[in-house]
Amino acid sequence: MIRFEKVSKRLSGRVVLNEIEYSIEPGETFVIVGASGAGKSVSLKHMVRLLTPDSGRVWVGEDCVSEARGESLDRIRERFGFLFQSAALMQWLSVGDNVGLPLRMKKDMSDDQIDDLVREKLAMVNLGDAFDKHPGQLSGGMRKRVGLARAIITDPEIILYDEPTSGLDPVTSRTIDRLINRLREELGVTSVVVTHDLHSALAIGSRIAMLHEGRMVEMSTPQEFVKSKNEFVQGFLEAQYITTQGDWEKSETA
Ligand SMILES: Nc1ncnc2c1ncn2[C@@H]1O[C@H](COP(=O)(O)OP(=O)(O)OP(=O)(O)O)[C@@H](O)[C@H]1O
Ligand SMILES: [Mg+2]
Repeated sequence: MIRFEKVSKRLSGRVVLNEIEYSIEPGETFVIVGASGAGKSVSLKHMVRLLTPDSGRVWVGEDCVSEARGESLDRIRERFGFLFQSAALMQWLSVGDNVGLPLRMKKDMSDDQIDDLVREKLAMVNLGDAFDKHPGQLSGGMRKRVGLARAIITDPEIILYDEPTSGLDPVTSRTIDRLINRLREELGVTSVVVTHDLHSALAIGSRIAMLHEGRMVEMSTPQEFVKSKNEFVQGFLEAQYITTQGDWEKSETA
């Protein structure tokens, strides 16, 4: 469904992606993890040509997105929903208008039809009563969920999620995980999820990939990932346990 073919990208004088090669299969939930600055958001942006490779190609099905232009690029982009790392909402529009924006731009539905769909998607992210609010009146986690409702409003085939659960409480995070799983099970959506949240990665991933210094250093099922001998994967796993284990050890010695 999505294929990176020897993709390299240099940004701010640094090699961010170094001849990266991998394929994401239709219907997968492909999770990308890695340190801050590892190139996770840069990878997602290549999938919809918000960035283009210095060398190599990115394919979406039969289409080379990294070389597409004009209408053919628009057609590829229409297959995607994108939840940006910063929810990227229009502050001057209501929540309902923000979520409905992609449909209004397509201009093939009435306002009432759009409002019905917006209410349905807001309910899916547990924001049934936020329709008339403005982004400024919402908490960070609520804004993120508005961004998520907007990402799924066109029922896209492929959804890119940049840190969908960061800044959310654990209960809401699991709601988002269930939503991602539901979209895959019921609609066969292909998802690419960037996350630092190990619980989420394990709960939703068909495969988990780790980016480190411009290369994929691991790509495996959740079951294999937790047993990986790769030092960077081990560091990532430990870092998420140390927070609780560290506190526990402290209280033991106190
Ligand atoms: N548009 C840009 N122009 C210049 N440099 C950029 C641009 N976008 C990203 N970079 C640089 O590329 C590197 C990778 O950035 P990226 O946003 O992909 O990191 P990330 O893995 O998503 O990190 P985080 O977990 O903090 O979101 C960083 O060094 C960043 O400064
Ligand atoms: Mg990022």
